[in-house]
Amino acid sequence: MSEGERLTELAKRRGFYFPSSSAYGGAAGFWTYGPQGAALKSNIEDAWRDRYVVKEGHQEISAPDVMPEPVFEASGHLDGFDDMIVECGECGATHRADHLVEDNTDIEEAESLPNEEVMDLIAEHGIECPSCHTSLADQPVDNFNLMFETNIGPGSSSPGYLRPETAQGIFVEFPQLSEYARNQLPFGVAQIGKAYRNEISPRKSLVRVREFTQAELEHFIDPEENEPPLAEVEDVVLPLYSVADQQAEDGGQRELTVREAVDDGVVESEWVAYYLGVSKEWYERIGVDMDRFRYRQHLAGERAHYASDCWDAESEVDGDWIEITGFAYRGDYDLSKHADHSGEDYTVFKQYDEPITVERATVDPDMSYLGPEFGGSAGAVADALEALAERNPDAFDDDEVTVEVDGESHTVPVEQTNFSVDEVTENGEHIRPHVIEPSFGVGRIIYTVLAHAYETDEVDGEERTYLDLPPEQAPTTVGVFPLMDKDGMAELATDIAGDLRAAGLSVTYDDSGAIGRRYRRQDEVGTPYCVTVDYESLEDGGEAQRASESASGDEPRAGTVTVRERDTTEQKRLPIDGLAETLEQLSTGDRTFDDL
Ligand code: GAP
Repeated sequence: MSEGERLTELAKRRGFYFPSSSAYGGAAGFWTYGPQGAALKSNIEDAWRDRYVVKEGHQEISAPDVMPEPVFEASGHLDGFDDMIVECGECGATHRADHLVEDNTDIEEAESLPNEEVMDLIAEHGIECPSCHTSLADQPVDNFNLMFETNIGPGSSSPGYLRPETAQGIFVEFPQLSEYARNQLPFGVAQIGKAYRNEISPRKSLVRVREFTQAELEHFIDPEENEPPLAEVEDVVLPLYSVADQQAEDGGQRELTVREAVDDGVVESEWVAYYLGVSKEWYERIGVDMDRFRYRQHLAGERAHYASDCWDAESEVDGDWIEITGFAYRGDYDLSKHADHSGEDYTVFKQYDEPITVERATVDPDMSYLGPEFGGSAGAVADALEALAERNPDAFDDDEVTVEVDGESHTVPVEQTNFSVDEVTENGEHIRPHVIEPSFGVGRIIYTVLAHAYETDEVDGEERTYLDLPPEQAPTTVGVFPLMDKDGMAELATDIAGDLRAAGLSVTYDDSGAIGRRYRRQDEVGTPYCVTVDYESLEDGGEAQRASESASGDEPRAGTVTVRERDTTEQKRLPIDGLAETLEQLSTGDRTFDDL
């Protein structure tokens, strides 16, 4: 069994995730998170929120999943969010053409190639339909838009789309969000939510799906003035695989600190470098194996339409590198597009420290001249003259000035434009912020964390599978078991489970089957600690404890339980009194099991 298959089997058997709607035959690319998976997902999202919202001081929003068509006309998704599709002439199955080329040749980034070249490569390499093995030579390679379309309200007059990235819900609301940030740059807006892509070939369980959760941060900055707090992460060592290294004969991944990566120009944007550093520490925290992890820079042909530079965090599973997060420098692409398409103001007013006096060139064209001369184009000619005066006042130095309107040149005598240059006082200017975007795919991170946590060893002569998840991420922190369901052990164990839950720990109570089997069940879902109540627990725990409990008005309760650590399977006897606090300290790393 491959690593991925082994994981999918465990995920289904133990309730991490499984294919959705299977009672009705299912639909590829849709997965349900079971109880363990939903808890793991929520722990990872909480850890993300803690690092990228709370610790960074950003704001979080929650925007709708469905957005009207004009949003995606402006964002470029309607025209440009396509994958290459090839349909089998025999069985009608559709496949992602670039992936077929990558799977059957040495070419690594076929999506950057033109459709015709991909079609030629399919013929040249004799690539067959993976479903029925008929040759795909001469089958056309077309573009397929990945957005799910819907209608907003009855009828089809108001088309909408399920958002293909959560980011657009932030960009569209920029004017409002900027006001909440008192128009002070830099500020960041984060969102954790669903994104939808009608992938041509969903594959590898959570890796390529049609509905998934993204955790995205859009950090709006003034590119002229704002700098990231690079010193906070400058010593973090990044495993970097740059474009130059990917293209060099003997190139490979290099280890550079954040500071070195910036100083050597390997990572161009300090902001991108900052988030690479922050994220490296975060991935370690949630259990990604750093020996199976790298940052790879996008080749020019791979970059999304909005990005001027992009690095992916990639994890290795089953010998394949999976993109788990994209770190893109989006510039002012999105805000400019939404400003152009909506006519709204997507700028921030940047106040100067001191007012400044500048020379301002203006025109006040004589419409009684422009009207008869240019007819229906007169207004557009006037606008073009105004724009030209602002952009290039020297163009008005001669007797005549020429402007282009809809591809046609119009020449106007300068005296008819009433051109003048005046001194004006300015308090500030409108600027369009730039955006740095770390965009995390939560499902792929879950897949990575589970794959990297999967361990086997031998315990009592039997093979054991366990997940060495960090306690903070584990779906359950403590398993509580009565050794037997008699003589009051179950009652005491139920009480202890209740107390631990009341203290905020995530607890599973299990009284079925042999104790060894119960340990194995918890090992397989990564529960870091198990507590067993046995006969000794029912005995008096000692005068001191009894006295303190009586003094506090609690029922006196007996002494100790066995606490077992998952990875070492080591067991220790600990007093019930203070158990919640001890387990809390263990799970946050404030104490180690050895210290007990
Ligand atoms: N807003 C930028 C953006 O959406 P992306 O690289 O297309 O960028 C970001 O997606 C992340 O979302 C990826 O790094 C990946 O983890 C996740 N992702 C994208 N498509 C996915 C899919 N079909 N299934 C699962 N996760 C996906």
